[in-house]
Amino acid sequence: MAEQKRRAGDLAPDPELWEALKQGEGLREILEDFYGRVYEDPRLNHFFWQATRERAIEKQYNFLYEIFTGEKVYFGERPFNAHSWMVISHELFDYREQLMGECLRRYGLPEHLIHRWRSTEEVFRRHIVKTEPRGKKFRGQELPVEGWETLTLEFSGLCDACKSELNIGDEVTFHVRLGHTWCRKCFPAGADKPLVEIHHP
Ligand code: HEM
Repeated sequence: MAEQKRRAGDLAPDPELWEALKQGEGLREILEDFYGRVYEDPRLNHFFWQATRERAIEKQYNFLYEIFTGEKVYFGERPFNAHSWMVISHELFDYREQLMGECLRRYGLPEHLIHRWRSTEEVFRRHIVKTEPRGKKFRGQELPVEGWETLTLEFSGLCDACKSELNIGDEVTFHVRLGHTWCRKCFPAGADKPLVEIHHP
């Protein structure tokens, strides 16, 4: 069994909710419905230009799995950092929550469990809603909002500009706010800006 996380209040494990979510099967069904709608919705889909629907579902699945069960299965970023560049108003946050509420009702989750799911998400409102982009925080320090840094990769991935493969140990440059990553061809060592810009579609 995975390591257990001890959390209290609205983030405490919730066996009744997990049971109603059929130990994860229902959670996946809800998230497939939800992100299917998010990716069709012009108020929300532009934020997801870098992520496939499958990736968004997978991350959210593990994130909520960990909260609802207390098992340590989520290794992504905390919401504060994951949304640092996104300007999300209270109104937009409410809109997303309403959309989620509709998916939970369509699934047939009882009202008291919908309320508990919504209280969990509500905890993250203050980490996500903001009027301007901000830097990511590491060990309590906020990183600058603009600029590039060099990094040696610990994970493989793709260059965001030319889509060529990046391997563990490769040196890359990344944008500290947006997290875009350039290979050495697209952003040569020592250059003060990328040769190939990444365009938001
Ligand atoms: C209007 C509200 C929201 C918008 C527009 C939004 C948008 C996004 C986007 C674009 C991503 C990146 C997807 C990816 O790269 O895979 C993301 C990731 C994520 N979001 Fe949200 N989100 C919102 C609300 C929330 C809420 C309420 C929660 C928590 C309850 C949440 C939790 C997460 C998590 C855990 C990730 C994955 C972080 C990672 O990539 O490591 N989001 N969100």
